[in-house]
Amino acid sequence: MSTPLAIGQPADRVDGRHKVTGGASYSADFLLDNMAYAVVVGAQVPSGRITDIDTTEALEARGVLAILTHENLPAIATQPPLLPSLAGMPAPGQTFFPLQDEVVHYTGQPVALVVADTMERAQHAGALIRVGYRETPSVTTLDQARDEAYEPEAIFAGFIPGRNQRGDVEAGLTQADVRIDATYTYAANNHNPIEPSATTAAWDGDRLTLYDATQGVAATQLTVAALLGVTPSNVRVISHYVGGSFGCKAMIWAHPALAALAARHVGRPVKLNLTREQMFTSVGHREEQEQHITLGASSEGRITALRHHKLSLTSPFDNWAEPSLGVASQIYACPNYEGVYRLIRANTMTPTFMRAPGEATGMFALESTMDDLAHQLGIDPIELRLRNHTDTDPGTGNPWSSSGLKECYRRGAERFGWERRNPEPRSHRDGHLLIGYGMATAGYPVYGPNNPQRARARLYSDGTAVVQAATPDFGTGVATVMTQVAADALGIPMERCRFEGGDTALPTIAAAVGSSGSGMISAAVHTAATNLRDQLVAQAVADSQSPLHGADPGTVTVQDGRMMLRDRPETGESYGDLLHRNFLPDVEAAGAWSPGPQTHNYGMMTFGAQFAEVAVDPDLALARVRRMVGAFAPGRVLNPKTARSQLMGGMLWGLGQALLEANYMDPSRGRWVASSLGDYLVPVNADAPEVEIELVEVEDKIVNPLGVKGVGEVGQVGAAAAIANAIHHATGRRIRKLPITIEDLL
Ligand code: MOS
Repeated sequence: MSTPLAIGQPADRVDGRHKVTGGASYSADFLLDNMAYAVVVGAQVPSGRITDIDTTEALEARGVLAILTHENLPAIATQPPLLPSLAGMPAPGQTFFPLQDEVVHYTGQPVALVVADTMERAQHAGALIRVGYRETPSVTTLDQARDEAYEPEAIFAGFIPGRNQRGDVEAGLTQADVRIDATYTYAANNHNPIEPSATTAAWDGDRLTLYDATQGVAATQLTVAALLGVTPSNVRVISHYVGGSFGCKAMIWAHPALAALAARHVGRPVKLNLTREQMFTSVGHREEQEQHITLGASSEGRITALRHHKLSLTSPFDNWAEPSLGVASQIYACPNYEGVYRLIRANTMTPTFMRAPGEATGMFALESTMDDLAHQLGIDPIELRLRNHTDTDPGTGNPWSSSGLKECYRRGAERFGWERRNPEPRSHRDGHLLIGYGMATAGYPVYGPNNPQRARARLYSDGTAVVQAATPDFGTGVATVMTQVAADALGIPMERCRFEGGDTALPTIAAAVGSSGSGMISAAVHTAATNLRDQLVAQAVADSQSPLHGADPGTVTVQDGRMMLRDRPETGESYGDLLHRNFLPDVEAAGAWSPGPQTHNYGMMTFGAQFAEVAVDPDLALARVRRMVGAFAPGRVLNPKTARSQLMGGMLWGLGQALLEANYMDPSRGRWVASSLGDYLVPVNADAPEVEIELVEVEDKIVNPLGVKGVGEVGQVGAAAAIANAIHHATGRRIRKLPITIEDLL
């Protein structure tokens, strides 16, 4: 009798056909009448002052409409403070806005903006601009300025304290039977989504429309409004399709405001596309860093103390570090803990969120150290983790809202075949290849938004529905999943429901960052659609002509668009009948959701377990990942197909983090060595092993109405550590750096 719920079905992407047939319009695809093109010219030196800018030749080039520099670009109105975009406030990626004066802080910093009638003409004219610099000494690597490190009060957009401690670390280390002291080093990383960032800006009088590639349309709207000194109600941001982001479109960088300023200056719509090369200097990056861990444990493997310090590069203007010490401080029972961030100001832009921001690096250090401890004590790595398992958040003592971690270890190990592992390094071989098995724990916090998340739902008299919320779908499948959520709440099939998003004209949703999207947006959509259903049911029971007249609304259920008594399904009528009889073309309801106060009394984390098998060629020093298995407990799984693809993407990113992804500064020139996908290596299909994902569903009544904890980032956490641990198992070599390259295994 009962129709299956859409939630939990592996529904195909509602936007899939559009994406693969070229029907999807990305931000750079919008062609507006009379459109002009802006090209950013970046600084060629990392530090100093512009002494002169000669634009004579460029201004004479064909098609050039304007050249904007610090000498003629209007000053910005206000510079908003750094705040994570989940706060729902203006969210600039850094508190420095370019083209305001002659000072150069980093290579690639915009020093001129050329506007022309075609992009090629703008690029050509950009090459004709002569910029003179007086260069000053720069810092672009950790090694150049270790003695200048300082301890900031807060990091991560001021969101996380620079120091966090509990218990007495020195006492805990004194009690310990074993002590591991290790330093982990990490190359900088760049995001490199397939779609480089782009903004098209069009003014209509004092009203501005921006087509922008972003994780949060409201973040773009509020940031640009603040920078330009215009009211947010006059700024509309549209972002229907986004070709990936991974964090580089989570904060709002200079280019949307520059596009708007250029459009205002030339009185025409302006499109500004960042080039692939500019993506390395314009949208943040994961900072070069190193982490130092001192771990003390009893001979049975119980952790007595953890000291975890991070040293990383930030920009000249902001105290930014990704919060690497968060999950690593919470994942195991550990009474004595000290986490400290230290920063060095460098000539780069402000680093930013990058997939699993912080956890991806922090858990590499902790989980490599745990593997080391297991090896030294002769305890199985999973058993060691179980001995340190905690049912409460050790930082606060609060219980987890839900966990599932032990089940992840069990099911992951079973699927992987962990019991076949001989703990002795170099004991498994396949021909001349050294085979290794490694594992690691994964965890990612459940973040809630600060402001109410809103949606609205409208049902037409033909029984179809449209559900709207401002969120873009930046590749995660959120539009598909929200169609499922709305369909179930309304009691209609998914095919009769459409989700619309990606527009500030729709009800406000914060930027989908920190794996918060599916939880907070489903909460808003579920609330709006449930309100609409309740409204329709209330109308039916109040209608003297309805078969449901006089019924208790609590006894009414809706299936396939038909309202009926739960106990007597033959008594009822369809939404359409109710609306037609009352001459109503449609009915609409809004819904809003914010995290409830109960969330403060729980630790909220998505847990998982990662397993990897590597084969190391001892002659070539080449490590290949053969197999990865991940088991994750993301609360309720709204769509196992999109959830799997998110988790698989995260795990493969972990492979890239482990073996490939790196960017380095050339300290003599103060610029990134890699500036294309030819130099910056990411895994391709030939690098991708078989990836298996086990979804461990756990009920969570605390986090949000549907109990959704998010899958965007946890898939990456621990993946690099599982691979490094497998390399240790294969070779007996503990490599404490990322990425692990051939040179490390020679
Ligand atoms: Mo995610 S890197 O927090 O956008």
